[in-house]
Amino acid sequence: GAEGHVTDVSFSFEGPLGTFDQHQLQRGLQVYNEVCSACHGMKFVSFRSLGENTGPGYDPDQVNAIAALYEVADDSDGALPGDTRTAKASDKFPANTSLGAPDLSLMAKARAGFHGPNGTGLSQMVNGIGGPEYIYSLLTGYTGEEQSLAGATLYGNHTFPGGWISMAAPLSADIVEYADGTPATVDQMAKDVSAFLMWTAEPKLADRKGAGARNFLFVALLAVLLYLTNKKLWAGVK
Ligand code: HEM
Repeated sequence: GAEGHVTDVSFSFEGPLGTFDQHQLQRGLQVYNEVCSACHGMKFVSFRSLGENTGPGYDPDQVNAIAALYEVADDSDGALPGDTRTAKASDKFPANTSLGAPDLSLMAKARAGFHGPNGTGLSQMVNGIGGPEYIYSLLTGYTGEEQSLAGATLYGNHTFPGGWISMAAPLSADIVEYADGTPATVDQMAKDVSAFLMWTAEPKLADRKGAGARNFLFVALLAVLLYLTNKKLWAGVK
Protein backbone atom coordinates (compact mmCIF):
# COMPACT_ATOMS: atom_id res chain seq x y z
CA GLY A 1 0.00 0.00 0.00
CA ALA A 2 0.90 3.63 -0.42
CA GLU A 3 2.13 5.74 2.47
CA GLY A 4 -0.29 8.14 4.16
CA HIS A 5 -2.85 5.46 4.96
CA VAL A 6 -4.96 6.19 8.07
CA THR A 7 -7.58 3.82 9.50
CA ASP A 8 -10.62 5.36 11.20
CA VAL A 9 -11.07 4.16 14.77
CA SER A 10 -14.21 4.82 16.75
CA PHE A 11 -12.91 6.20 20.02
CA SER A 12 -15.10 6.79 23.10
CA PHE A 13 -14.19 10.49 23.13
CA GLU A 14 -15.70 11.22 19.71
CA GLY A 15 -19.00 13.00 19.12
CA PRO A 16 -20.57 15.94 20.97
CA LEU A 17 -20.92 14.01 24.25
CA GLY A 18 -17.86 11.77 24.00
CA THR A 19 -15.72 11.16 27.08
CA PHE A 20 -12.45 9.37 27.71
CA ASP A 21 -12.66 5.72 28.79
CA GLN A 22 -10.75 5.75 32.09
CA HIS A 23 -9.66 2.11 31.83
CA GLN A 24 -8.36 2.75 28.33
CA LEU A 25 -6.38 5.80 29.53
CA GLN A 26 -4.84 3.70 32.30
CA ARG A 27 -3.86 0.99 29.82
CA GLY A 28 -2.46 3.61 27.44
CA LEU A 29 -0.38 5.11 30.23
CA GLN A 30 0.97 1.63 30.99
CA VAL A 31 2.06 1.29 27.34
CA TYR A 32 3.68 4.72 27.48
CA ASN A 33 5.51 3.90 30.73
CA GLU A 34 6.72 0.48 29.66
CA VAL A 35 7.41 1.02 25.95
CA CYS A 36 7.36 4.55 24.52
CA SER A 37 9.17 6.29 27.39
CA ALA A 38 12.33 4.35 26.53
CA CYS A 39 12.84 6.89 23.71
CA HIS A 40 10.14 9.56 23.84
CA GLY A 41 9.49 12.31 26.37
CA MET A 42 6.27 13.93 27.54
CA LYS A 43 7.56 17.14 29.04
CA PHE A 44 4.28 19.10 29.16
CA VAL A 45 2.35 16.47 31.14
CA SER A 46 2.49 16.59 34.94
CA PHE A 47 2.22 13.43 37.02
CA ARG A 48 -0.36 15.21 39.17
CA SER A 49 -2.74 15.45 36.19
CA LEU A 50 -2.95 11.62 36.15
CA GLY A 51 -5.28 12.05 39.14
CA GLU A 52 -7.87 14.09 37.24
CA ASN A 53 -11.18 12.27 37.22
CA THR A 54 -11.89 13.13 33.59
CA GLY A 55 -8.44 11.63 32.86
CA PRO A 56 -6.85 8.42 34.16
CA GLY A 57 -8.33 9.17 37.62
CA TYR A 58 -5.63 7.62 39.80
CA ASP A 59 -5.70 8.26 43.54
CA PRO A 60 -2.81 10.24 45.10
CA ASP A 61 -0.88 7.14 46.22
CA GLN A 62 -1.05 5.67 42.73
CA VAL A 63 0.08 9.01 41.22
CA ASN A 64 3.10 9.03 43.54
CA ALA A 65 3.92 5.44 42.62
CA ILE A 66 3.78 6.26 38.88
CA ALA A 67 5.95 9.39 39.35
CA ALA A 68 8.47 7.24 41.22
CA LEU A 69 9.04 5.19 38.03
CA TYR A 70 10.86 8.22 36.57
CA GLU A 71 14.05 10.15 37.26
CA VAL A 72 14.10 13.90 36.69
CA ALA A 73 16.81 16.56 36.90
CA ASP A 74 17.70 17.32 40.52
CA ASP A 75 16.88 20.99 41.12
CA SER A 76 17.62 21.05 44.86
CA ASP A 77 20.30 23.26 46.44
CA GLY A 78 23.78 21.91 45.93
CA ALA A 79 22.81 19.55 43.11
CA LEU A 80 25.32 19.33 40.29
CA PRO A 81 24.35 19.50 36.61
CA GLY A 82 23.40 16.01 35.53
CA ASP A 83 22.27 14.92 39.00
CA THR A 84 18.87 13.26 39.04
CA ARG A 85 16.29 12.40 41.65
CA THR A 86 13.11 10.33 41.75
CA ALA A 87 10.14 12.25 40.30
CA LYS A 88 7.30 13.52 42.51
CA ALA A 89 3.62 14.19 41.73
CA SER A 90 4.45 17.88 41.22
CA ASP A 91 6.98 17.11 38.46
CA LYS A 92 6.41 16.67 34.76
CA PHE A 93 7.31 13.59 32.77
CA PRO A 94 10.93 13.78 31.59
CA ALA A 95 11.76 15.18 28.15
CA ASN A 96 13.01 12.79 25.46
CA THR A 97 16.37 11.12 25.78
CA SER A 98 16.67 9.46 22.40
CA LEU A 99 17.98 11.25 19.33
CA GLY A 100 15.18 12.24 16.95
CA ALA A 101 12.27 10.88 18.98
CA PRO A 102 9.79 13.77 19.21
CA ASP A 103 8.02 14.73 22.44
CA LEU A 104 4.63 12.98 22.63
CA SER A 105 2.71 15.42 24.93
CA LEU A 106 0.91 17.16 22.07
CA MET A 107 1.50 14.67 19.26
CA ALA A 108 -2.21 13.77 18.93
CA LYS A 109 -2.90 17.40 18.00
CA ALA A 110 0.25 17.87 15.93
CA ARG A 111 -0.66 15.23 13.36
CA ALA A 112 -3.78 14.89 11.22
CA GLY A 113 -5.30 11.68 9.97
CA PHE A 114 -7.95 13.11 7.68
CA HIS A 115 -7.06 15.50 4.88
CA GLY A 116 -9.87 15.16 2.38
CA PRO A 117 -11.80 15.72 0.27
CA ASN A 118 -9.12 16.78 -2.18
CA GLY A 119 -6.85 18.12 0.53
CA THR A 120 -9.38 20.68 1.79
CA GLY A 121 -9.63 19.00 5.19
CA LEU A 122 -13.41 19.53 5.23
CA SER A 123 -14.04 15.95 6.43
CA GLN A 124 -12.41 16.99 9.73
CA MET A 125 -15.60 18.90 10.59
CA VAL A 126 -17.37 15.55 10.89
CA ASN A 127 -14.56 13.11 11.68
CA GLY A 128 -12.27 15.23 13.85
CA ILE A 129 -8.69 16.00 12.92
CA GLY A 130 -7.66 12.37 13.19
CA GLY A 131 -4.51 12.74 15.31
CA PRO A 132 -5.19 9.65 17.45
CA GLU A 133 -6.15 7.71 14.31
CA TYR A 134 -2.82 8.75 12.77
CA ILE A 135 -0.90 7.45 15.79
CA TYR A 136 -2.91 4.21 15.85
CA SER A 137 -2.32 3.69 12.13
CA LEU A 138 1.39 4.49 12.41
CA LEU A 139 1.84 1.92 15.19
CA THR A 140 -0.08 -0.78 13.32
CA GLY A 141 1.16 0.19 9.85
CA TYR A 142 4.58 -1.47 9.68
CA THR A 143 5.17 -3.42 6.47
CA GLY A 144 8.02 -5.53 7.87
CA GLU A 145 10.47 -4.17 5.27
CA GLU A 146 13.75 -2.55 6.26
CA GLN A 147 16.34 -0.56 4.37
CA SER A 148 19.64 1.04 5.19
CA LEU A 149 20.07 4.65 4.18
CA ALA A 150 23.28 6.58 4.90
CA GLY A 151 24.03 4.31 7.83
CA ALA A 152 20.55 4.53 9.38
CA THR A 153 17.95 1.80 9.35
CA LEU A 154 14.52 2.77 8.05
CA TYR A 155 11.37 0.74 8.50
CA GLY A 156 8.57 0.47 5.95
CA ASN A 157 5.32 2.01 7.21
CA HIS A 158 1.97 2.49 5.44
CA THR A 159 1.13 5.66 7.38
CA PHE A 160 4.37 7.64 7.79
CA PRO A 161 4.84 10.30 5.08
CA GLY A 162 7.34 8.98 2.56
CA GLY A 163 6.69 5.40 3.67
CA TRP A 164 9.93 4.92 5.69
CA ILE A 165 10.33 5.78 9.39
CA SER A 166 13.38 5.59 11.64
CA MET A 167 11.32 4.26 14.58
CA ALA A 168 11.34 0.46 14.63
CA ALA A 169 7.91 -1.07 15.30
CA PRO A 170 7.65 -0.48 19.07
CA LEU A 171 4.76 -2.84 19.77
CA SER A 172 4.58 -6.61 19.64
CA ALA A 173 1.94 -8.87 21.17
CA ASP A 174 2.13 -9.14 24.97
CA ILE A 175 4.99 -6.62 25.28
CA VAL A 176 2.99 -5.32 28.27
CA GLU A 177 0.87 -7.33 30.67
CA TYR A 178 -2.19 -5.18 31.32
CA ALA A 179 -3.03 -4.61 34.96
CA ASP A 180 -6.75 -4.98 34.14
CA GLY A 181 -6.29 -8.31 32.33
CA THR A 182 -7.16 -7.00 28.82
CA PRO A 183 -5.32 -9.11 26.18
CA ALA A 184 -2.35 -7.05 24.98
CA THR A 185 -2.66 -7.39 21.22
CA VAL A 186 -0.80 -4.88 19.05
CA ASP A 187 -4.16 -3.48 17.93
CA GLN A 188 -5.37 -3.03 21.53
CA MET A 189 -2.13 -1.39 22.73
CA ALA A 190 -2.07 0.93 19.70
CA LYS A 191 -5.65 2.06 20.39
CA ASP A 192 -5.01 2.51 24.11
CA VAL A 193 -1.82 4.54 23.78
CA SER A 194 -3.42 6.70 21.03
CA ALA A 195 -6.40 7.43 23.32
CA PHE A 196 -3.99 8.21 26.16
CA LEU A 197 -2.03 10.63 23.94
CA MET A 198 -5.30 12.31 22.93
CA TRP A 199 -5.94 12.89 26.63
CA THR A 200 -2.44 14.34 27.19
CA ALA A 201 -2.93 16.66 24.21
CA GLU A 202 -6.45 17.68 25.17
CA PRO A 203 -7.08 16.97 28.86
CA LYS A 204 -10.10 19.29 29.04
CA LEU A 205 -11.98 17.61 26.17
CA ALA A 206 -14.68 16.08 28.40
CA ASP A 207 -15.21 19.33 30.38
CA ARG A 208 -15.42 21.31 27.16
CA LYS A 209 -17.97 18.94 25.63
CA GLY A 210 -20.02 18.93 28.85
CA ALA A 211 -20.08 22.74 28.90
CA GLY A 212 -21.08 22.75 25.23
CA ALA A 213 -24.01 20.41 25.90
CA ARG A 214 -25.21 22.51 28.87
CA ASN A 215 -24.96 25.70 26.83
CA PHE A 216 -26.90 24.08 24.01
CA LEU A 217 -29.73 23.10 26.40
CA PHE A 218 -29.74 26.58 27.93
CA VAL A 219 -29.99 28.32 24.56
CA ALA A 220 -32.73 25.90 23.46
CA LEU A 221 -34.72 26.72 26.61
CA LEU A 222 -34.12 30.45 26.10
CA ALA A 223 -35.40 30.18 22.53
CA VAL A 224 -38.67 28.64 23.74
CA LEU A 225 -39.14 31.34 26.39
CA LEU A 226 -38.41 34.14 23.91
CA TYR A 227 -40.86 32.64 21.45
CA LEU A 228 -43.61 32.56 24.09
CA THR A 229 -42.73 36.08 25.31
CA ASN A 230 -42.91 37.38 21.77
CA LYS A 231 -46.36 35.78 21.26
CA LYS A 232 -47.71 37.28 24.47
CA LEU A 233 -46.31 40.77 23.81
CA TRP A 234 -47.85 41.03 20.36
CA ALA A 235 -51.08 39.14 21.18
CA GLY A 236 -53.18 42.32 21.26
CA VAL A 237 -51.87 43.67 17.94
CA LYS A 238 -52.27 40.54 15.79
C1 HEM B 1 8.54 9.01 16.06
C2 HEM B 1 4.93 7.26 18.80
C3 HEM B 1 8.01 4.12 20.86
C4 HEM B 1 11.69 6.24 18.52
C5 HEM B 1 7.29 8.79 16.61
C6 HEM B 1 6.08 9.51 16.25
C7 HEM B 1 5.07 9.01 17.01
C8 HEM B 1 5.63 7.99 17.86
C9 HEM B 1 3.60 9.42 16.99
C10 HEM B 1 5.98 10.66 15.25
C11 HEM B 1 5.80 10.19 13.83
C12 HEM B 1 5.62 11.42 12.95
O1 HEM B 1 6.53 12.27 12.91
O2 HEM B 1 4.56 11.55 12.32
C13 HEM B 1 5.44 6.27 19.60
C14 HEM B 1 4.66 5.49 20.54
C15 HEM B 1 5.52 4.58 21.10
C16 HEM B 1 6.84 4.83 20.53
C17 HEM B 1 3.18 5.71 20.82
C18 HEM B 1 5.20 3.50 22.10
C19 HEM B 1 4.16 2.65 21.84
C20 HEM B 1 9.27 4.43 20.43
C21 HEM B 1 10.48 3.77 20.86
C22 HEM B 1 11.53 4.36 20.17
C23 HEM B 1 10.97 5.40 19.34
C24 HEM B 1 10.53 2.65 21.90
C25 HEM B 1 13.02 4.05 20.22
C26 HEM B 1 13.46 2.76 20.28
C27 HEM B 1 11.15 7.17 17.63
C28 HEM B 1 11.94 7.93 16.67
C29 HEM B 1 11.02 8.72 15.94
C30 HEM B 1 9.70 8.43 16.50
C31 HEM B 1 13.45 7.89 16.49
C32 HEM B 1 11.32 9.66 14.77
C33 HEM B 1 10.98 8.87 13.50
C34 HEM B 1 11.24 9.61 12.19
O3 HEM B 1 11.01 10.83 12.14
O4 HEM B 1 11.67 8.93 11.21
N1 HEM B 1 6.99 7.87 17.60
N2 HEM B 1 6.76 5.84 19.62
N3 HEM B 1 9.60 5.42 19.52
N4 HEM B 1 9.83 7.48 17.49
FE1 HEM B 1 8.31 6.61 18.54
